[in-house]
Amino acid sequence: MNGSRARIAPSILSADFARLSDEIARCESGGADLIHIDVMDGCFVPNLTFGAKVIETVRRLTALPLDVHLMVVEPEKYFEDFARSGANTLTIHAEVAPHLHRQVHRIKELGCLAGVAVNPATPLDAVGEIAADLDLLLVMTVNPGFGGQSFIGAMLDKIRRARALLDAARSRAALEVDGGIARDTIGHCWRAGADTFVAGNAIFSAHDPAGEIGELRGRCGVSV
Ligand code: DX5
Ligand code: ZN
Repeated sequence: MNGSRARIAPSILSADFARLSDEIARCESGGADLIHIDVMDGCFVPNLTFGAKVIETVRRLTALPLDVHLMVVEPEKYFEDFARSGANTLTIHAEVAPHLHRQVHRIKELGCLAGVAVNPATPLDAVGEIAADLDLLLVMTVNPGFGGQSFIGAMLDKIRRARALLDAARSRAALEVDGGIARDTIGHCWRAGADTFVAGNAIFSAHDPAGEIGELRGRCGVSV
């Protein structure tokens, strides 16, 4: 079963970078639980975004935990730099992490929480053997690379199975979803067992981004 309160993680991919400090302040005032930072390398995904410098900058702008999502090949190259820059969680993709056990434990040695993400087409088997070691399991609800894509409805069943997998492993890992999370999709994900919700477009393109965080959380009731 998921926890009692949904955690909302605004993704700064959709923020206005000319006003990053205001954007983050709005997330804080709206009650965001985490700030989600999407690192893309133009190789694992067809887009380029941020590195350590931006993580460091965001670190100075907020005390909220930084949830860093590495959509990169050879993610271990960046662990130390990103941990030093102030990342709290480092989430790597199972598709590019053949030594997942070693990589997850390296992240923990560096003092960060360790997350593993699975793309829509990647079976949950990819993380089954390591579920008990995870701090976070990220079920992608779009194909990673861009903000503003449509939620893939077939992922709801995968979220349910991910919840069951974590429960069976007696894992206390957060179950995060990322991609197309908005007013009309978040409640379904919550009821399927997710507890941590990344939202970019839904928050930053809203008329009132701070208020939107509460709107999203409000659609997550008590789980059954
Ligand atoms: C997608 C990224 C997401 C993205 C989500 O590849 O991992 O974190 O910012 O954006 P929305 O919420 O707009 O789908
Ligand atoms: Zn992300």
